[in-house]
Amino acid sequence: MTEQATGSTGGSATPLQYRQIGDIAVLIIDNPPVNALSLAVRTAIAEAIRKTDADPSVKAVVLIGSGKTFIAGADIREFNLQTQGPPAASAGRAAYDAVDASKKLCVAALHGTALGGGLEIALCCHYRVALPAVKVGLPEVLLGLIPGAGGTQRLPRLVGAELALDLITQGTHVEGSRAAALGIVDELIPGAGFDELLDGAVRFTRQALEGRRPLRRVRDTHGKIKHVNPEVFAGFRDKNAKKWSGLLAPWKIVDCIEAACNESWDVAYAFELACFLECKESPQRGALSHIFFAEREAAKIPGLAADTRAPPINSVAIVGAGTMGGGIAMAFANSGIPVRQLEMSEEALQRGSAIVSRNYETSVSRGSMSRAKADENLRRIRGTLSYEEIGSADLVIEAVFEDLGVKQDVFRKLDEVMKPGAILATNTSTIDIDKIASATTRPESVVGLHFFSPANVMKLLEVVRGAQSSPQTLTTSMGLAKRIGKVAVLAGNCDGFIGNRILATYAREAEFLLEEGATPWQVDAALKQFGLPMGMFLMRDMAGLDIGWRVRQRREATRPKHLRHSRVADLICEMGRFGQKTGAGYYKYDGREATPDPQIEQLIIDAAAKAGIERKPIADAQIVQRVLIAMVYEAAKILEEGFASRASDIDVTYVYGYGFPRHRGGPMYWAEQQGLAKIRDKALAYHEIHGDHWKPVALLAKAAAAGSWKAALGR
Ligand code: 3HC
Ligand code: NAI
Repeated sequence: MTEQATGSTGGSATPLQYRQIGDIAVLIIDNPPVNALSLAVRTAIAEAIRKTDADPSVKAVVLIGSGKTFIAGADIREFNLQTQGPPAASAGRAAYDAVDASKKLCVAALHGTALGGGLEIALCCHYRVALPAVKVGLPEVLLGLIPGAGGTQRLPRLVGAELALDLITQGTHVEGSRAAALGIVDELIPGAGFDELLDGAVRFTRQALEGRRPLRRVRDTHGKIKHVNPEVFAGFRDKNAKKWSGLLAPWKIVDCIEAACNESWDVAYAFELACFLECKESPQRGALSHIFFAEREAAKIPGLAADTRAPPINSVAIVGAGTMGGGIAMAFANSGIPVRQLEMSEEALQRGSAIVSRNYETSVSRGSMSRAKADENLRRIRGTLSYEEIGSADLVIEAVFEDLGVKQDVFRKLDEVMKPGAILATNTSTIDIDKIASATTRPESVVGLHFFSPANVMKLLEVVRGAQSSPQTLTTSMGLAKRIGKVAVLAGNCDGFIGNRILATYAREAEFLLEEGATPWQVDAALKQFGLPMGMFLMRDMAGLDIGWRVRQRREATRPKHLRHSRVADLICEMGRFGQKTGAGYYKYDGREATPDPQIEQLIIDAAAKAGIERKPIADAQIVQRVLIAMVYEAAKILEEGFASRASDIDVTYVYGYGFPRHRGGPMYWAEQQGLAKIRDKALAYHEIHGDHWKPVALLAKAAAAGSWKAALGR
């Protein structure tokens, strides 16, 4: 095989290299880091296809990505810049249409990821070959979009309407072997690197040419979308109605796939573009794209040298095999990292191990994990009673009782046995990290790793920075999160860190709203309507009211007495109502079924009267506004005090840890959309009415004047 020509479509800065291997033109997309389909890339592809069409020495084209990946989709950043209407937007399809109409046989060679527009352009090619480790998919829905370049039209033609509905509305990444079995990929090329893929693609292309395979366009295949029962679409909409409440894109995807089955190519393809543009202009798209970048930004620690060393974590020890210890162990085991779990007694170990086994059984019975995988993961978790046996782990996470003395005792022992350089982490949710670190001789290695329950499921990981946590400890911790599928946010060492500190503030305001005229069920319904997964009071009932009660009792002596304080929660606990587990809390329960309780309404009315508060009807919108502004207000204080780095970190915390509706972008993004000046004015009005809980925050005033958090903070 001889390489006849090498070049690019116009200078070294262009994102496409053009090579020729015999009579095969090789177009290499070169737009690091993920070869996103920017306008420049699309223009270069269209130009290159014009060139291959016109060049008689070219018989076929291979389209491949340089580096580690094919094309990860359209360049998401460009969606925020583009304001053009339909004509220019349809021009955005020019590259796809050029490949689809190519006179020369086109083969896409896929590795890494072929997502969104990347898969769409591959579907415009006549054939697709791939390395086995490839992942392909149309994840646009996760960004509030639908595939806009024929994805909803071509994928159903290959895999059938029903499977396409699932894959595209969930944005599923499909692995190589499944993609091949489904016919998305025509042949898997054994190997792992670019060179093997290119060699295999050229070989495949040559065979295709020699076998004189006709140009087979996906758009011309109809077998799998003919005669689809209309009930399929109605049923799919019904099944997902609750899940998609408030969303736009998934509904549009169903409409587009239905159109693919019922309309001509031209009509359905134009319809897809119209739906794509509608989604592109929606506020949801802006919010989801904000969260996409915020998540990636959160992983970066401001002020830390980019070359800070982050030694790999290959083994983990966990002290405590209770609720959190078990979940954390599963999170590591599921990512292939061996875990030693230390407990106080054989009995406690057995108890913890039984819960973990039960959780894996549930995953197997629900079909979310294979039996073999569950067994393999379970085998990675081994119990011990001996500190000596955990000393060689790269990282140890303490998850024992929430008691400073107990934790300091554990850290003293860890300091004795852990190898030099090991990270010593605590999962505490309320205790000062520095006090825990002071029990060791190596506070630079101590950090908070605050997982959320259930730790094997919840994505958020607050990495809590102690006064002396070293850059290396922090960098390793942030990197580790990604490895175990978590989203990390760096938090400072304040009471409640980021998430729970904000929660305490808006929970307080929700309690005040009860005294002012709302009921628990009205507050819960209003917040649920906004998009939170569960109302405030239902959540408290589920978590149990007694723990918070004990904390309040402990802190009663130091509570600032000049500030407003609601007695409602204490009164409920004094009745022995600790939530779901005792059959009553804010609600009464039949099993898990919650019902509003007139007795609690009366309790609230009496408490308000005693506190001299006149109750008045409160509109749902006012409830949502008060609760959300309380979130934003506390978050602004956290930012001002330096316990969070960026406003977007708060959004990530709330979306991944507290179920804030992703399509609203998080509380800080929400505030910007409302207008920060309006939020500031509301907070000032609350200060007038409700007193010093709402003392003005300078950063909120600054952000309101500057128009954004970023402008006020400089990041
Ligand atoms: N556009 C612009 N930038 C992108 C991008 C995209 N599509 N995908 C990733 N990036 C950037 C990230 O922001 C990050 O930048 P940074 O280093 O400055 O923070 C960098 O590329 C690396 O990304 P990750 O940290 O996420 O790298 P991973 O290796 O963990 O993941 C990935 C790679 C799986 C490709 C992941 O980035 C991803 O899921 N990207 C989005 C894929 C997607 O949604 N594609 C569809 C886009 S919409 C579309 O195609 C519309 C079409 O139908 C017309
Ligand atoms: P848990 O009570 O379920 O488990 C604690 C376990 O630690 C028990 O199995 C106990 O036997 C063991 N243990 C106690 N002292 C020990 C010692 N000296 N050595 C070895 N093992 C010891 O508690 P849970 O809920 O798992 O909480 C653990 C930690 O995680 C606490 O610090 C808590 O604040 C924090 N946390 C809890 C969350 C939750 O939702 N439960 C969420 C986030 C953090």
